[in-house]
Order: sequence, then C-alpha cells, then structure tokens
Amino acid sequence: MKSGSIRVNLLAWLIIPGLLVLGIGAWLSYEQAFRLSNIVTDQQLTASARMIAEEVAYSDDSLVVTIPPAALELFASESHDEVAYAVTDSAGNLIAGYPGLDTPTKTGRGNLLFFETVFRDEEPMRAVDFLQTVVTPTGGVIVRVSVGETLKARNALVTTLWMRGFLEQGALVVAGAISIWFGISRELAPLLRLRQEVRDRRPDQFEPFDADRVQTEIRPLVQALNAHMDRLRQQLERQRRFLDSAAHQLRTPLAVIKTQVNYALRSRERSEIDLALTEVDSNLTSMARMTSQLLTLGGVDHNRTALQSETIDLSDIAHQVVLEAASRALDAGIEMAFDSDGPAGVVGSDVMLVELVTNLVENIIAHAGAGAEATIAVRRGVRDVILRVEDTGEGATDEDRTGLLQRFRRGRNARPGGSGLGLSIVSEVVESMGGTIDLPAPRAGKGFAVEVRLPAAVS
Ligand SMILES: Nc1ncnc2c1ncn2[C@@H]1O[C@H](COP(=O)(O)OP(=O)(O)O)[C@@H](O)[C@H]1O
Ligand SMILES: [Mg+2]
Repeated sequence: MKSGSIRVNLLAWLIIPGLLVLGIGAWLSYEQAFRLSNIVTDQQLTASARMIAEEVAYSDDSLVVTIPPAALELFASESHDEVAYAVTDSAGNLIAGYPGLDTPTKTGRGNLLFFETVFRDEEPMRAVDFLQTVVTPTGGVIVRVSVGETLKARNALVTTLWMRGFLEQGALVVAGAISIWFGISRELAPLLRLRQEVRDRRPDQFEPFDADRVQTEIRPLVQALNAHMDRLRQQLERQRRFLDSAAHQLRTPLAVIKTQVNYALRSRERSEIDLALTEVDSNLTSMARMTSQLLTLGGVDHNRTALQSETIDLSDIAHQVVLEAASRALDAGIEMAFDSDGPAGVVGSDVMLVELVTNLVENIIAHAGAGAEATIAVRRGVRDVILRVEDTGEGATDEDRTGLLQRFRRGRNARPGGSGLGLSIVSEVVESMGGTIDLPAPRAGKGFAVEVRLPAAVS
C-alpha cells in the first residue's frame, strides 16, 4: 500500500478535525453571542419600560402618562434603531404611545415578558411587556407598558461577538496548516541529507551513518541500516576470504597437473607416460570433486532460505547413499552397515541431504583406512532426527577434531587428494536446516564419529 506524502497526510489530519471543531465552535459561539446580545437589549428595554411606568398616574378619573425623554434616549446608537412604545390599561385601551406593538396573548414570568414581534407589519422588533400597578382611590389598576426596538443594534452586536471567536479559531487552523507545511520541510531535511549520503557512498564503503544527526523517531531506521551494512560487510569479507582460498586450492593441483603433463610430454618411455597420465587423471578427479564442493558451498550460502522446502525421509536418503558407496568401501577394505528404525522425516532439500550424507560416507572411504568398520545410523527422536556416522578407523586427534568443521581444514595425517571442504559443507547444510552437528569421541575408543541432529518434520 502506498502511504502518500507525510506533508499532505499531516495536513489532512489537522484540517479535517480542525474544520469540524471550527464548525461546531462557530455554531456554539453564535448561540452564545445571540443570547448575550438579547440580554443586553432586554436590559435596555426593561430600564426604559420602568421609567415610563413610573410616570403613569391616576388623575381626574383617568390614567395619564408623560413619557420621559430619557426613556427613549436610552436607545440612541449608531445603528439608528426605531423605538416604539405603548401604555395600555387592563382592558386593552391605549393610554399613550403607538398602536401596533403587538402583544402576545400569553403572559410571562413575574411582571416582565420579552418577545419578538413585527411592528406594524414591517419592522421586526424585540420588545418587553412590563406590568405596573397604579394606585387609584378604589384600590389599584394594572397597566401594561410595552417598549420595542428594531433589531439592527442587536444583530450588529451578535455579529461582532460571534465573528471574533470564529476568526480566532479559523486563524488557529490556518496557522497550524502553515506551520505543518513548513515544519515538515525542516523536519525532513536530516532525512534528505541522509539520502544524499547513501547515494554518495562508494560500493565498498560500510562505515555506519551518524544516527545522532536524525530525530529520535528515525534513529532506529538508521541503526537498522547500519546493522544491515555491517552484515553486508561481514558477508563480503567471508566471500572474499572464501574466493581467496578457493583460488589457492585450485591453483595448487593445477600446478601439479601441469608438471605431470610436462613430464609426460618430455618422456620417451611408454610406461613413464602412462604413469604420469594416471596421476593426472587422479588429480583431475579430486579437482572435479573439489570444484563441485566449492559450487555446493556457494549454493548453500545463496539459497539458504530456498533450501527448506519439502518433507524428506532422511533414513531413505542415507540408505541409498550407503548402497551406492558400499562396493567402493569394500574395495578400500571397509565394511559399511546401515541402521535405521523406520522413516525419519525432515524438512529440507533432497539434493542438500544427499550431499550431507555423501560427504560423511566419502570421508570414511577416504580416511578410515583398511580394516575399519563403519555404521551409518538414522534414529527418530522426540523432536529431532539423529544421523550418526561412525567408524573404527584411524580417526583424528582431539586437537585436530575441534577445527575440522571449518572450510579448507584437514587433519594432520589426512591423505592427499581432499580439499578440507566436506565437513564444512555438512556443517553448513545442517545449520541452514536449523540443526546441530557434533564430532563426539568414537564409542569404540578409536575411529571417527559425526552426530547430526535435524529438526524432525511434523507428521
Ligand atoms: N571418517 C574419518 N576418519 C578420520 N578422519 C576424518 C574422517 N572424516 C574426516 N576426517 C578428517 O577431517 C578432515 C576434514 O574432512 P573434510 O572436510 O571432509 O575434508 P577432506 O575429506 O577433503 O580432507 C579430513 O581431512 C580428515 O583429517
Ligand atoms: Mg571429505
């Protein structure tokens, strides 16, 4: 899956919730501004209505009122709102003011009722009804003072209060977006610098990159890169050493063969020529074996993961290798026996398993010496399959034994013709299959033993 651009992704992470918050915030602050503005307007209306109500008096059998100018001056503002008032008695007769300031039928809480109305079918107004008891000789009558004001001033106040909050929040989102846009460029700079350093590297340069120059979040990546380069370096080093010794190993028998061929060319005697050619043939045979071993080792290295593929019966493979080698073993004066307690499945490649057993069996033929007895045994354990190859031949010293699993390593008394690669191939095949190899002391007290344990296939 493509992950897109960090810059665009982060912007989206900010802007989408930002707009959401902005929307909700705008709605909430509009509500609040509206309520606040109404409270302010209502206070003016109440003050005005009270002033007028105070002037209502009873004289000459009727209610009279003189409107105090201050009651109307209260509303003076830039927005030039129109103000309307009406004083009516409880029967609805107009005592003073303008008719048309519609009063709602319902009454409010206490002696105050705020409402919105349309004055003379034209102007929307916010208005108040204020009920006042006026003392008369017979007791008291209730008069209703209504004062209304058009909405220009109130709406202007709403807008002022609301816009401010909205602009503040909007500015915050925009500032965040801008800071992300430029912040990312800054933050990515160390990464881009690292990219340039990687590009500028020569193929043989493996020094670690400076992980302290990038941010903590990226540091693990650089450390992993460094670790990987270190593995690469070691791998290259191993290959270089391998190639060096391989070249050396091949050059020596080639030089010998060249000498033998020259000798044959100079010889006049048929028997001398035959002898030289026989030796050439034998040297070529061991060179061919060594070459194929070198190639196998290369293969084990390169196909480490591709190796583990199918379930194979190691018992069957070992049996076939022993059968195939038995007659040559007899020629060398060695008696070879195969022993197994039934199928023993392991997961791996049959080519590699044949190579493994062959190397051990060929070693017996090559090193055990006439008169030795050898057993190749396969046992199925609880978790492992155990291959034990053992002979009663000449064996190797304890000192020699410790290093024999390494490439090109041969015993001190090893006969000419080998390359020292066989056991290292066995060891690497075993390792690639997740098994272990050991060269234990032989049970017979003399001879040579190899014990290989491979994880058993789950059946
Ligand atoms: N069955 C054996 N008996 C005695 N020595 C052995 C036996 N198998 C291996 N070795 C010793 O281990 C050495 C390494 O074996 P290997 O890696 O197969 O190389 P190579 O057989 O080409 O010499 C041999 O040179 C030999 O000294
Ligand atoms: Mg060998």
